[in-house]
Amino acid sequence: MILDGKAVSAALKADLAQKVKALPEKYGRVPHLVVILVGEDPASQVYVNNKSRAVEAVGFRSTTLTLPSDTAEDDLLDRIRELNADDGVDGILVQLPLPAQIDEAKVIRTIAVGKDVDGFHPLNVAALWQRMPCIVPCTPKGIMKLLASAGIDPKGKRAVVVGRSNIVGLPVAKLLLDAHATVTVCHSRTADLAEETRRAEILVVAAGRPRMITGEMVSEGAVVIDVGVNRDKEGKLCGDVDFDTVAPKASFITPVPGGVGPMTIACLMENTLECFLNRLRGQSPE
Ligand code: GUN
Repeated sequence: MILDGKAVSAALKADLAQKVKALPEKYGRVPHLVVILVGEDPASQVYVNNKSRAVEAVGFRSTTLTLPSDTAEDDLLDRIRELNADDGVDGILVQLPLPAQIDEAKVIRTIAVGKDVDGFHPLNVAALWQRMPCIVPCTPKGIMKLLASAGIDPKGKRAVVVGRSNIVGLPVAKLLLDAHATVTVCHSRTADLAEETRRAEILVVAAGRPRMITGEMVSEGAVVIDVGVNRDKEGKLCGDVDFDTVAPKASFITPVPGGVGPMTIACLMENTLECFLNRLRGQSPE
């Protein structure tokens, strides 16, 4: 069975678009997300375009700031501080990765916690790991919603996450733990990756390596979530999972594209609304 992220995300966005209609009367305006892209990385350009198109489609206000690849760190931090201070801005997203001269951690720390739609700020991360109210990172949140949409309950299941990034691997492992799965996190130094992945009833792959998970690494009936977006040697878009050999064994599998990607965007819309409401209700952490 295909886990159709495109369809589930369309339903989530339709629901949001409905909610947005009531906002101007109640609050005088709609949520406003500012997306900052530094440089000309083609993949990042595609992601940023997709994000701003979705923002407008649900009826939010969207601003995209495009800065040159040689932007100085201080200039970017100043732009962020201006947006922090701007009451008409509800969410700030700086597309990662950033050019080498800019310290990502510094950028993430500078974004006001209350406008951190990515959930990357250390206070949001700390809150997530302490099960306190927080903005949950978009891709992990989208993965959990996609599982729920198919009636897949992680409770008591063996979940294996491949990849330990701050953006996906670590937070999705935490969310799976919170959903009562038994979680193993694998990475580039895992001694026998296939042995670990074969144990998975739920397998989440976010390693950034084209088609690294092949059919013999997956057990019959596993639920397979592919977070990868890569180009293979022929320039074709592919995931971290070799779909052709894994799909026949999986009970559920996400396609690339059309699986996790659209869910990330739908969750970004939800997080933007959440930051907007928290701010207007005076419940924002800042
Ligand atoms: N780069 C890859 N994924 C993401 C994401 O979820 N947020 C941001 N800001 N950058 C990314």
